[in-house]
Amino acid sequence: MKILAVETSCDETCAAVTEGTDILSNVVHSQIDLHKEFGGVVPSIARRAHEEKISFVIDKAVLNAQCSMLNIDAVAVTQGPGLAIALEVGIRHAKEWARKLNKPLIAVNHIEGHVLSGLTPEVKFPAMALIVSGGHTELIWVEKIGKYKIVARTMDDALGEALDKAARMLGLGYPGGAELEKRAALGNAKKYILPRPMAGREKNLEFSYSGLKTAFYRLVSAKGQVLSAKDINDLAAGFQWRAFEHLTRITNITLSNPPLNLRGGRQGVIHDLLVGGGVVANQTLRNELEKLGQELEIRVWFPRKGMYGDNAAMIGIAAGFKAERGEFADPDKVDRLPRWRIDASNLFIKKETVDGPECFENGFC
Ligand code: KG4
Ligand code: ZN
Repeated sequence: MKILAVETSCDETCAAVTEGTDILSNVVHSQIDLHKEFGGVVPSIARRAHEEKISFVIDKAVLNAQCSMLNIDAVAVTQGPGLAIALEVGIRHAKEWARKLNKPLIAVNHIEGHVLSGLTPEVKFPAMALIVSGGHTELIWVEKIGKYKIVARTMDDALGEALDKAARMLGLGYPGGAELEKRAALGNAKKYILPRPMAGREKNLEFSYSGLKTAFYRLVSAKGQVLSAKDINDLAAGFQWRAFEHLTRITNITLSNPPLNLRGGRQGVIHDLLVGGGVVANQTLRNELEKLGQELEIRVWFPRKGMYGDNAAMIGIAAGFKAERGEFADPDKVDRLPRWRIDASNLFIKKETVDGPECFENGFC
């Protein structure tokens, strides 16, 4: 089944053609240059830019896949979570194509896309997924593809957001995660030791980055107006080190004490950690997670090439599994779900759904 997938949940206009887990094309048009001067994503600008580029990006995805619209068997789209007015553009265009081609529509959770971005046939379930992006920091229990439960999430800022804010404090531009990594590589991570987030409360299985951000702000402010290049490198290294140390510490605790399965029974031992999201582009973080995997004897799977940040190929892959389960969406009812949790089921699945939505322990159905 060839799937045309569309993704417009934030500041990248994306389209892809996938077949199962094969990626026939994956086109990403970044809007970063438009948002840079504002130091963050401006929703109205994002919407306009999606609107301007989406048809071109879709056409290019079909062309790059060396097929035509007539070869497309289903249309997939990110329904949430994300910026409401940005999601709306992709959903509208996907619906139009599904209607025009008279093909089914598949509505996908953006986070499920990130979870499956490093999937290989060797991954064994149940597994754990760690998603680290500009908007999300979540550990997700994956009983099997399509059955998820969030077991740890951030109480405040996401990791990528925190890295971007720290980079901004150092005058490194937006989004600053990648630049912060470069400067950190040149610095001494032990020069400035920042306080450990959630110290003594790690068992709560929650991430938190806002206290770290405030401590960093105080530290940077205390250094005065002009920072030397060496100061910037050491500060970047200190912040990044602590931010990753917190991430791996909570991940370690969670993996060492895996939760019960979705029906409250005992789960098998976890052998696999699927990692996804833009922050995984960071080599230092990947090294830390590899190390953790070796310690715990868990295999760590990173996203495939070009699939760290937002992209539509991951949406197409998730959609392929939904299609296998008969989870098609009703184009008349699908609407954006800006806060859609991966463990809350899609409310607009058609009646043909094989199993029907299940209720999880947290009350989400
Ligand atoms: O997944 P993504 O592209 O978009 C969201 O869904 O948020 O993630 C974007 C985030 C930004 O915060 C960006 O600074 C961060 O990923 N990022 C990095 C690196 N490359 C991108 N963070 C750390 N090191 C990097 N090399
Ligand atoms: Zn994302």
